[in-house]
Amino acid sequence: MVEVLIAPLAGEVEARTCAKLMAESEPWLTLGRSYESALTLLRDPTREVYVAHDQRGIAGFLILCMVGAFVGYIQSVAVQPDRRGQGLGTQLIAFAERRILAEYPNVFMCVSSFNTEAHRLYQRLGYQIVGELTDYIVHGQSEILLRKTVGPLAGRTGLTPDQGGTRETSTGMAPRPESS
Ligand SMILES: CC(C)(COP(=O)(O)OP(=O)(O)OC[C@H]1O[C@@H](n2cnc3c(N)ncnc32)[C@H](O)[C@@H]1OP(=O)(O)O)[C@@H](O)C(=O)NCCC(=O)NCCS
Repeated sequence: MVEVLIAPLAGEVEARTCAKLMAESEPWLTLGRSYESALTLLRDPTREVYVAHDQRGIAGFLILCMVGAFVGYIQSVAVQPDRRGQGLGTQLIAFAERRILAEYPNVFMCVSSFNTEAHRLYQRLGYQIVGELTDYIVHGQSEILLRKTVGPLAGRTGLTPDQGGTRETSTGMAPRPESS
C-alpha cells in the first residue's frame, strides 16, 4: 500500500489543485460540479478539508462537515485518477473515520446511484444504506445516504454540573473504528 501524508488543506494552490481534480472527475462531471463551485466548497470555512500528499504531490483529498443534522459527514473524497486502486481512498476514509469517531458515533456519506465502484468500496468498509434521496442533484439519479456507526448518540454528550449545566460536552472518546 502506498503511504501518504494527510494534512489540512494549506493555501490557494492546493485548493485549486483539488478543485481541478473534482471538476474533471466523475461523479462530479455528471452531477454538474464546476471548477468554481468546487473551489467555493473547498474554501468554505464550515468545512474541514484534508489533503493526501505522496512523493509526486497532491494524491487526493477529503471534505468533512462537522456541523449540522448529519454531523460527521464525509462530503467528498477523491483520489487522482493515476493513483486510484492503490489503497489511497481507503486511507483517506480511515483518516476521516478517526477524525469523526473521536467526537461522534456516526460517519455519514452519500454516494451517487451510478457510482457503483465507490459504493462497493464503502460497503466493504462497513457502510450501510440508510436512505435514498431520489432526483436529489440531477434528475434520474439518486444520492444514497450511507452510515457507519459505533453506537447511539445517547450517553455520549451531557451537561457538566461544574459548568452550571449550561454547556454540552463530550463525556468521552468514541471507540476507535474497526481498522479498514
Ligand atoms: C472512490 C475513490 C475515492 C476510491 O479511492 P481509491 O484510492 O481508488 O480506493 P482504494 O484503492 O482504497 O480501493 C479501491 C476500490 O475503490 C473502488 N473504486 C471506485 N472508483 C474507482 C476507480 N476509478 N478506480 C479504481 N478503483 C475505484 C473500487 O471499487 C475498488 O474496489 P475493488 O477492489 O472492490 O475493485 C477514487 O476511486 C476516486 O477518487 N474516484 C472518483 C471520485 C469518487 O467517486 N469519489 C467518491 C464520491 S462518493
